[in-house]
Amino acid sequence: MSGNKLRLGVNIDHVATVRNARGGAYPDPLRAAKLAEEAGADGITAHLREDRRHISDADIDGLMEVLSVPLNFEMAATEEMQKIALRHKPHAVCIVPEKREERTTEGGLEVAREENRLAHYIAPLREAGCRVSIFIAADRAQIEAAHRIGAEVIELHTGAYCDAHAEGRFEERDRELESLREMSAFAKSLGLEVHAGHGLTYETVKPIAAFPEVMELNIGHFLIGEAIFRGMTPAIHEMRRLMDEARA
Ligand code: PXP
Repeated sequence: MSGNKLRLGVNIDHVATVRNARGGAYPDPLRAAKLAEEAGADGITAHLREDRRHISDADIDGLMEVLSVPLNFEMAATEEMQKIALRHKPHAVCIVPEKREERTTEGGLEVAREENRLAHYIAPLREAGCRVSIFIAADRAQIEAAHRIGAEVIELHTGAYCDAHAEGRFEERDRELESLREMSAFAKSLGLEVHAGHGLTYETVKPIAAFPEVMELNIGHFLIGEAIFRGMTPAIHEMRRLMDEARA
């Protein structure tokens, strides 16, 4: 996982969403994760939500056991999640908002107003060797705060850009893209590693993949949806192809 190649993290949460719709064991997110790995995913992302609506504790145990690529463990900044992360020590921990009050208006984590608490929260995770990433909006104040609390990585929220594209609000989409571009460069200038994700599709991935500062994209919902139509492996291969094309 070194060099300048743009990494693709495949988020398998929504395989668990489908499984949980029937309360059984099928389809198995671990099988999807292994398949994604074989298809060239550089990492697997899973979000253990407080309400366990998709990924379960047992899924995280299983992923830690079977994966050959790094696990990016997404979680809210709660005591319970910190304990789970410290037990597993995944390669990366991405802190995401789950409740309204933890979010900025753009949907990323509100770091600036929670700086002290978050600095104390992530310190033991960093000491345990996890790379701590903070999921934030493309907002200068949030990036500066993420840097001050000691995060090594930020993941920029691409949801507003993707929504504007999907709804045909192209001027707004282009404004969102411009601030993602500027803030990627700004974050890198502070020494932060820059990741991006949320809502990315074949139509929206290339402009983001073209930012030289972005080192990793985390993509889930669209890929799992596309896997229904063309299968998981071709769905991932196409995303990889578009990312590589944009990067070249
Ligand atoms: N990155 C982060 C931090 C996320 O929380 C999510 C959604 O779980 C994603 C990326 C992937 O978003 P999507 O499923 O819309 O591709």
